[in-house]
Amino acid sequence: MAKKKSILDLYNMKKKGEKAAWVTAYDYPMASFAEQAGMDMILVGDSLGMVVLGYDGTVPVTMEDCISHCKAVRRGAPNTFIIGDMPFGSYHASISDAVHNACRFLKEAGVDAVKLEGGIRVADKVKAIADAGIVVMGHIGLTPQSSGQLGGFKAQGLYVDSARLLIEDALALEKAGVHFLLLEAVPPELTGFITRKLTIPVYSIGAGLPCDGQLIICGDMLGMFQAFTPKFVKKYSNVAEIVINAFKEYIDDVKTQKFPEDKHVYHIIDSKEDFENLFAEYE
Ligand code: KIV
Repeated sequence: MAKKKSILDLYNMKKKGEKAAWVTAYDYPMASFAEQAGMDMILVGDSLGMVVLGYDGTVPVTMEDCISHCKAVRRGAPNTFIIGDMPFGSYHASISDAVHNACRFLKEAGVDAVKLEGGIRVADKVKAIADAGIVVMGHIGLTPQSSGQLGGFKAQGLYVDSARLLIEDALALEKAGVHFLLLEAVPPELTGFITRKLTIPVYSIGAGLPCDGQLIICGDMLGMFQAFTPKFVKKYSNVAEIVINAFKEYIDDVKTQKFPEDKHVYHIIDSKEDFENLFAEYE
């Protein structure tokens, strides 16, 4: 089994030009599959609100949801670097809230790092969390928690003015102490520039190749999330179809009594006659 990565390993990978492959997971089995496959990192994203809990967005997700799912993922992937996603409202009101909630991720769920969305506007919270000794990931570009302000789940930094704001955000986050940065749904030209400009690892979800690695949402890549598929997703499987077909086959087997078969039942040990006598007592 591969050794669990540390932040220093991730920095070394950047130095060597080795790309990090990571995925979201929200529960024990998916985390275990990711670890068995050799994933470099796992994000327990607040996308769990959409992918697992059936909300329209990430805003309703609570700290309790995140902690509970992070715990399950840690149990499934004890030897993988895990990032816990701080949910909407858990770091916005005050620096003290931000540090308190970031600490909960480490103390209660045993994650290795936390991620929060936003640039300059959260730099004070990032600094306080990093000052508490916690590994922090920044996340800019398409930030789902503020998709209301962005007018929906839309690509960012497509124009010079908005790209400039993202460059300023990236610089402010690095200065505030983020240990790595995630860019979501921005053009590769901007990704390449930010990756060259910063010294920390920069990762992409829908931000193209020129950076230090790629994240993808497990529900999207496996074909489990059916509400919509972002442009930047490559589907590696169609689990929804596989599961629906298995369920249909099971329903058919039950209706036609093809299931359970003899090999699926427990056989009596005392004689048939003894059992008949037993049943007769109750007739
Ligand atoms: O919650 C999540 O999965 C995320 C990704 C969209 C980056 O934050």
